[in-house]
Amino acid sequence: MGRRVLVTGGAGYIGSHTLVALQEAGFEAVVIDSLCNSSEVALQRVQAISGKPIRFYRGDIRNRKLLGQIFTENAIHAVIHFAGLKAVGESSQKPIDYYQSNVSGSLVLLEAMQAFGVKQLVFSSSATVYGSEAPVPYVETLQTGRTSNPYGTSKWMVEQVLRDAAAANPELSVALLRYFNPVGAHPSGLIGEDPQGIPNNLLPYIAQVAVGKRNELSIFGDDYPTPDGTCLRDYLHVVDLAIGHVRALEWLADKSGAEAFNLGTGRGTSVLEIVRAFEQASGVTVPYRLSPRRAGDLPAFWADASKAKCELGWVANLGLEQMMADTWRWQSKNPHGYGAVATNK
Ligand code: NAD
Ligand code: UFG
Repeated sequence: MGRRVLVTGGAGYIGSHTLVALQEAGFEAVVIDSLCNSSEVALQRVQAISGKPIRFYRGDIRNRKLLGQIFTENAIHAVIHFAGLKAVGESSQKPIDYYQSNVSGSLVLLEAMQAFGVKQLVFSSSATVYGSEAPVPYVETLQTGRTSNPYGTSKWMVEQVLRDAAAANPELSVALLRYFNPVGAHPSGLIGEDPQGIPNNLLPYIAQVAVGKRNELSIFGDDYPTPDGTCLRDYLHVVDLAIGHVRALEWLADKSGAEAFNLGTGRGTSVLEIVRAFEQASGVTVPYRLSPRRAGDLPAFWADASKAKCELGWVANLGLEQMMADTWRWQSKNPHGYGAVATNK
């Protein structure tokens, strides 16, 4: 199996952790990232963890010329495609930006892969493709669609594009990885999630309250039909998720077609349970206020992760305690994330 992988969006949250996992598994990584939502410091930290170099190209995946240069200068065997915009709320305000980056970006990448004979692709999809009507737990055989925001629709659209491309070209093999809720950070505390502005997601918000950057957490809704009234999600450790990408690459080696895999733990945890688990792991109290529901939130969803176990040999090994402890280690060691040294934030 070829060992050189192009990682789009490699400076981001999941990308940076996946770089560590790739290097630990003996792969060489080449990164393209525009740094529109990340910092080059993340790549320096990854190299500090692994002790191995990463070749970095700063630029947009829609830049055909740059992609051509990357594929010419590096014997790329496979691509892991993280690059894209991911803020659900913002996607409704700026739908064209989201379709441009996520859909057009994937098309340009796919064309370049085709032109340079690169035949293996791992794509960052999301549990959001199951839409608002799907029964839980989500299983890959369910129909997808009925997404409720442009971000989710962009992921659904790219899945369809990749299925069609793989059906037309038997040499192409694609893993569509549907992530549930990634949280946590590398145990070194050197890399982690560093959102711009006010965090949209639960764990970064809690961590910023705990470190004193925000006053209190708003819990969006306590009247859902769940055991404690707050929403249930399938939180998984980003280090487990990163390893899932290595397993998917290994699986792709002798496959053709496009296959979807849920990457989650198979368990739902409530917002209140997360707050308590974080407080226990960090020893810090997280003040919170019960607030109205957030538009678009579903009451409860979690993965049926048995396909990833059977076919990829992947399971999420790290528990809630580790997720919370690692989130806190990252946040307390880096209260301003990649901070003042970051040039693009
Ligand atoms: P992130 O924003 O931290 O990482 C994305 C990276 O892509 C960033 O470094 C950003 O600078 C870069 N980027 C964005 N648009 C680009 C473009 N057009 N060209 C080049 N680089 C570009 O996000 P993340 O949490 O690491 O997510 C990675 C992928 O996983 C995304 O595709 C996201 O939609 C998907 N995903 C994330 C979650 C989650 O909860 N974090 C859940 C499901 C799916
Ligand atoms: N929540 C709060 N307060 C906050 C933030 C979140 O109570 O300040 C609650 C939400 O209402 C929800 C839960 O915490 O019940 C999780 O919310 P997140 O925003 O962390 O995660 P979501 O499940 O809404 O969305 C995430 C990603 C999406 C992805 C989806 C499914 O952000 O990109 O998981 O994979 F599509």
